[in-house]
Amino acid sequence: MSIALGAAARDGKNAGVAPVTYGEGERPPRGDYSRARDDYCCEQDWAAYTEAEHDLYRRLHARQSALLPGHACDAFVRALGRLGAPERIPRFDAVSDTLERSTGWRLVAVPGLIPEEAFFRLLAARRFPVTDWIRRPDEFDYIVEPDLFHDLFGHVPLLFDPVFADFMQAYGEGGLKAARLGACELLARLYWYTVEFGLIATPSGLRAYGAGLLSSGAELSYCVRSPQPRRVEFEPARMMRSRYRIDSFQPTYFVIRSFEQLFDACAPDFAPVYAAVRETMAREGEIEAGAGAPGDRAAGPFSPATSAAVRPTAPGA
Ligand code: PHE
Ligand code: CO
Repeated sequence: MSIALGAAARDGKNAGVAPVTYGEGERPPRGDYSRARDDYCCEQDWAAYTEAEHDLYRRLHARQSALLPGHACDAFVRALGRLGAPERIPRFDAVSDTLERSTGWRLVAVPGLIPEEAFFRLLAARRFPVTDWIRRPDEFDYIVEPDLFHDLFGHVPLLFDPVFADFMQAYGEGGLKAARLGACELLARLYWYTVEFGLIATPSGLRAYGAGLLSSGAELSYCVRSPQPRRVEFEPARMMRSRYRIDSFQPTYFVIRSFEQLFDACAPDFAPVYAAVRETMAREGEIEAGAGAPGDRAAGPFSPATSAAVRPTAPGA
């Protein structure tokens, strides 16, 4: 998530410079914002990808696909193939044509992180922004900013799920409203703990549905198997009060039971929720990343004793 500074960017329109983000970093975000239009979208210059970049995508895809069994939710695994052949960076237009027939979403190319109002506007119109550049080879295991691999592999498969697809559009509409209410930071936390780092409880055990987990080489297995992190039942107001870390594995994950539950819990008007959360935070403060809170319900079915039920070594589990 990101916020725009500067007069020209304040109405959410591209001013040719990279947006400023909430997180701290040494470098400004990468990406050439001068070639993006007002709405931050640009052309995916597919012919400009080098063979080395296609090869990097192929290797990332292969490494990550091998980690999915037993870790990724079913809807993700089922839809992954619809991104097309894993050997080359997909053409966004080709994926969009398949996706549009399925749930009405299309992908749009962007130079990198975009300001949140521009982001919300795209989601509300069922347009998902995908960064058009891929990481460097030395960032194979870890990259701070979202790149093409994270955005495409991590986020796009679940846009083929009808309920999740509707949730993402509703999030965009909710974001535009949150911007009017000055509540973007609260809503960004909900995004972080669901769309990026969410877990779902299934009959076969915990599975990841968050894109930050699904595109991560190391955290995908950790989030499902490690006894270390806190796992709490999903609760929007609790998430909104919770800070998060962008530079390490998450110390807390929130667990949903279904995409329907996620959609339904976020359907009510959030204006009173934001007000209540602000009031609680004024009294009791924010919840530090990784800290517990009164009322937390530990999320099943995970416990170290039952983690064996996840069948760590069974091939194809
Ligand atoms: N219902 C929320 C509101 O009224 C919007 C929302 C929908 C937020 C879905 C997140 C996800 O603001
Ligand atoms: Co993401």
